[in-house]
Amino acid sequence: MLENIEKLNKEITVVSALIKDKDSLEDFRIKYLSRKGLLNDLFEDFKNVDKTQKGAVGKALNELKILAQKTYDEKQAEIEKLTVSESSKEDYTLPGRKFNLGTKHLITQALEDISGIFQRIGFKVVDGQEIEDEYHNFDALNTPDYHPSRDMQDTFYLKNEGKDKRYLLRTHTSPAQVHIMKTQKPPVRVIIPGKCYRNEAISARSLSMFHQVEGLYVDKNVTFRELKGTLDFFVKEFFGKDLKTRLRPSFFPFTEPSAEMDVECYLCNSKGCRICKYTGWLEILGCGMVDPNVFKHVGYDPEEYSGFAFGMGIERTLMIRHSVPDIRMFYENDIRFLKQF
Ligand code: PHE
Repeated sequence: MLENIEKLNKEITVVSALIKDKDSLEDFRIKYLSRKGLLNDLFEDFKNVDKTQKGAVGKALNELKILAQKTYDEKQAEIEKLTVSESSKEDYTLPGRKFNLGTKHLITQALEDISGIFQRIGFKVVDGQEIEDEYHNFDALNTPDYHPSRDMQDTFYLKNEGKDKRYLLRTHTSPAQVHIMKTQKPPVRVIIPGKCYRNEAISARSLSMFHQVEGLYVDKNVTFRELKGTLDFFVKEFFGKDLKTRLRPSFFPFTEPSAEMDVECYLCNSKGCRICKYTGWLEILGCGMVDPNVFKHVGYDPEEYSGFAFGMGIERTLMIRHSVPDIRMFYENDIRFLKQF
């Protein structure tokens, strides 16, 4: 018996050096300390030990038990410490993992910027529709039958034409004016951002789809002066500078008088550069006082009401603002381009 105890004593000392982790610690416990472990076996055998030997064997056995328990406790503490210090090895000063956050497309940002500026001075943002008929896109806007914009070369007509209506993809946002005035009494103060379509040859300067923002203000006694004041305010807000503007006489079937608005070239401070073609001015929109014939189509009395309208091309304006050399870049979805905005 004493020999066995002595053997286990040595064994435990040797084995203890091999306890490195929770698993080997648990193996140790099962082998020596559990109810069915070797130490318990010895205590069982102890019952049969000769009386004269009991004192010595009992002492040795107790010492063995203390050794085994101490070994277990020490190793357990050691392993615990190790796992804690291992997890605290994490370096919280390391930079986090990078991930790409999406942003709004440049066009969306511009439409929202522009709408926001007009909203601040009382305009309401409304949606138009991309599929229109000839009446809304042309007739109601005082555009004569022979007008070249009605030509198949310029307008996308839809295949499923109605019996008495010819459907088409709107060539500008102006037909939305007609829908709004037909359903609403003045005062009307709206902004209509959206897509337009024209049958253009695709090039660095033109695509068959582009964006416009339309504006319409109708009330009693609306004057040309208010048109100019409103657009000046817009330019100041949008370009962030007190830039001069000028109106050049122009023609649109649905406004009279009509004008095109130029903005001082902010890239060269109107000294003349490649972007403004050395004129010092950039053309940004078409505008005018709503033609009385349009009022007649929508049922407004032109004697009682007057109003102004304007329409600006977004891609063109952005190409100027950000020196984008090719309009197609807006829609190629090249991340290198998009992430600059
Ligand atoms: N619809 C015109 C265009 O597409 C722009 C415009 C809108 C002009 C409203 C005057 C008034 O060119």
